[in-house]
Amino acid sequence: MRTQVAIIGAGPSGLLLSQLLDLAGIDSVVLERQSRAHVEGRIRAGVLEDQFQALLRRAGVGARMDAEGQIHDGIAIARGDRSLRIDLAGPTGGRRVCIWGQTELTRDLFAVREARGGAVLDEAADVALHGIGEERPWVTFRRGGVEGRIDCDFIAGCDGFHGVSRRSIASGRLETWERVYPFGWLGVLSETPPVSPELIYAGHARGFALCSMRSAGLSRYYLQVPGGTDPGDWPDARFWDELRARLPEAAAAALVTGPSIEKSVAPLRSFVAGPMRHGRLFLAGDAAHIVPPTGAKGLNLAGSDIHYLSAALIAWYGTGDTEGLEGYSERAMARVWKAQRFSWWMTRLLHRFSEDPPFDRRLQAAEFDFLAGSQAAQAALAENYVGLPY
Ligand code: APR
Ligand code: PHB
Repeated sequence: MRTQVAIIGAGPSGLLLSQLLDLAGIDSVVLERQSRAHVEGRIRAGVLEDQFQALLRRAGVGARMDAEGQIHDGIAIARGDRSLRIDLAGPTGGRRVCIWGQTELTRDLFAVREARGGAVLDEAADVALHGIGEERPWVTFRRGGVEGRIDCDFIAGCDGFHGVSRRSIASGRLETWERVYPFGWLGVLSETPPVSPELIYAGHARGFALCSMRSAGLSRYYLQVPGGTDPGDWPDARFWDELRARLPEAAAAALVTGPSIEKSVAPLRSFVAGPMRHGRLFLAGDAAHIVPPTGAKGLNLAGSDIHYLSAALIAWYGTGDTEGLEGYSERAMARVWKAQRFSWWMTRLLHRFSEDPPFDRRLQAAEFDFLAGSQAAQAALAENYVGLPY
């Protein structure tokens, strides 16, 4: 089989890239290890920056997001019983985020690829990358017991943190930077009305909590828990009690609880691998970087990578211009590092670091006080939360 761009991974990065390339008349094949049903069923992020919303509209997958997503122009940042409302729109010239689950977005992307006859080969095992330093790379895989081979011009490694693409780069060629946090987030999805119309990021001596949502009848809540926590140790009643204990009083009183329909623990990690280009292989999204979820940047960074990468490939196929491809890694990584900084800062501001000496605890309290008293600091938070420019 021959295509122009072989895309590894059918998460948001890979599917969105194949769609944008298709709209520009460029052929691709997406290879996905899991089944389509598995990918569509994963519960992931849910806050989209305005530039990512615009990119999805350009890709022809904005209709359901615009009809059913919720536009938010503020968030709450709490510490104990104190709560600050951070205005997102005012200091950013009217920019707003959209609450729209990655699960829904992935369904729309799969549907549009199918409707346009795009090749998305799921349940592809043993994907291997070859010749990435050459002009004609190729990918091999096994599907339904049959060996397959795709010859291509470029390979896009969109296969997430645990994928094969990053690991295919010769050792010594890739630099990595990492910080692993000694805690994770225990997430619960429940068919209950959200506790508040806006997200609440709550710092507390017992640990961080987040109140988020997917829709008017579907809430998403998180608790900071020690690394290695088993969700089985957290029956619903324990989860709701702990959440109430960490929220400001008014929010705790307003919380409506119900049975969880999903419960899982995600570790927190900051990770960057670069450069994001190696010969004919381009890494994008979680394959190249992971942020702790506190700033809601993971999915949005996948969006900016795909914006840069699709534009670069379209320019190359259109006019032979190599500037976009050559500058891809530097452009993408510059934005990634700024999002890393913001995600680290939000994480530091709001979580309980059990190893912190008293000095650092006082700094954390001062950071919150400064934010509470400074319009400039609140504007900086807003600017980052709605997303730095592409
Ligand atoms: N071969 C083929 N596919 C693979 C392989 C492999 N060896 N390894 C992983 N994959 C697939 C995964 O099954 C997954 O469907 O690659 C896909 C990667 O998707 P994501 O992990 O969703 O990564 P990405 O598309 O970059 O999306 C960015 O934003 O909200 C964050 O972390 C969250 O998933 C999210 C991300
Ligand atoms: C979510 O709704 O899953 C969510 C929202 C905001 C975050 C992280 C996760 O910062």
